[in-house]
Amino acid sequence: MTEPRFLHAQWSSRMAFIFAASGSAIGLGNIWKFPYLAGDNGGGAFVLVYLLCVIAIGIPIMIAETLLGRRGRQSPINTMASLAEAAKASPHWRYAGWLGVIAGFLILSYYSVIAGWAMAYILKINSALFAGIDAAGSARLFETFKSTPEYQVIWHSLFMAATIFIVSRGVSGGLERATRYMMPALLLMLLVLDVYAMNSGGFAQGCAFLLEPDFNKITGAGILAAMGQAFFSLGLGMGSIMVYGSYLPAHVSITRSSILVASADTLVALMAGLAIFPLVFANGLSPTMGPGLIFETLPIAFGQLSGGGWFGMLFFTLVFFAAITSSVALIEPAVAWLSENRGLSRSRASLYSGSACWLLGLGTAFSFNIGSELKWFGKTVFELVDLLTAEIMLPLGGVLVALFAGWILSREHSEAELEMKDARHYRIWRILVRYIAPAGVLIVFLDAMGLFGR
Ligand code: TRP
Repeated sequence: MTEPRFLHAQWSSRMAFIFAASGSAIGLGNIWKFPYLAGDNGGGAFVLVYLLCVIAIGIPIMIAETLLGRRGRQSPINTMASLAEAAKASPHWRYAGWLGVIAGFLILSYYSVIAGWAMAYILKINSALFAGIDAAGSARLFETFKSTPEYQVIWHSLFMAATIFIVSRGVSGGLERATRYMMPALLLMLLVLDVYAMNSGGFAQGCAFLLEPDFNKITGAGILAAMGQAFFSLGLGMGSIMVYGSYLPAHVSITRSSILVASADTLVALMAGLAIFPLVFANGLSPTMGPGLIFETLPIAFGQLSGGGWFGMLFFTLVFFAAITSSVALIEPAVAWLSENRGLSRSRASLYSGSACWLLGLGTAFSFNIGSELKWFGKTVFELVDLLTAEIMLPLGGVLVALFAGWILSREHSEAELEMKDARHYRIWRILVRYIAPAGVLIVFLDAMGLFGR
């Protein structure tokens, strides 16, 4: 292949890539979204479908997306364009890159609002308001916070500013350093919360809810939500991991890194679930609380633990860090494209794209208060943007990546890039991206549309 026009920076090592990729994968999706989606969609059956999607669809697509990134070595739009050209395929493949950039924008617009909640809770949680709080009190505080437009805008703005700041500092400067200590610390913190949950009195019920599938409780829409969540949580289908792959040095094993990152991501989600559902049941709450779930339940634990306020501060700080390492990944495809094609400096590119996201995010910020009556198809702006991205754009983007890697990219090229020692492993991957993943996504779509009539 010809040398790309734009030579990117590279990660300093394999571990740097793994940390950055886990930083992208592990975020609000694991701690905030996974628990409430599992709660809304019946628990165990949702978790089981989620795990199946991670294994059969997520990991193969993660490998495919990273592989395309490293082969193309440019922003997702240009990578798709130049790989398509090299393979004599249609130049329209670059629209798959565009789909990703737009999805990233849309996701970050609301991601920033929710991450703002976590930021606000860093300050709030250690106050006297939360000391010894019960479920009703915690719900009331969250409700007030959510329904005050000023708070929503302020925290959303602060989070977006932090994202712009870090992204403008570039690949290894900003991105690498932060993840290194934060991820292990977050894991430790969740472990402590899990131990607390074990003694909360709701542990058996929480575990049963999360881990024992009851298929009567899952619907086509629930299955689609589980699949969408697999894409969202792993950070697939929009070029995040593709652009990270483009910074990946040659000869680093993409397969092993992907499996490692996906496992870490899944572990964090399950640990978050195991911390939250025991609390839900111990306090007589309903698991179907929606997006406020962690903000209403976890403070009860922090309020009751001695020193829990400080503990809570630390926890939400780590959630903030997990969110920011994901938000930089969400915006990176746009920034990389703006600097390649429009000749903008990284800082300008970050500023422009971050500001655009901020503006869009106001829609979400207001959807919890003054704009809550503004609905299309019965959904608020936040719900609409979330469903459109997680349940449509990401799976679609992921399938395009799978089809491209499986059918357009030549076998020699993908084989050379993956350098798998065992030819059987390569064959399994190829079958997964060529047939299983695309078919799986299609079936889930059709099922959600009610075509299999259940
Ligand atoms: N995976 C992140 C989370 O779980 C969010 C994220 C980062 C993402 N990059 C992405 C989601 C790309 C979809 C696509 O919070």
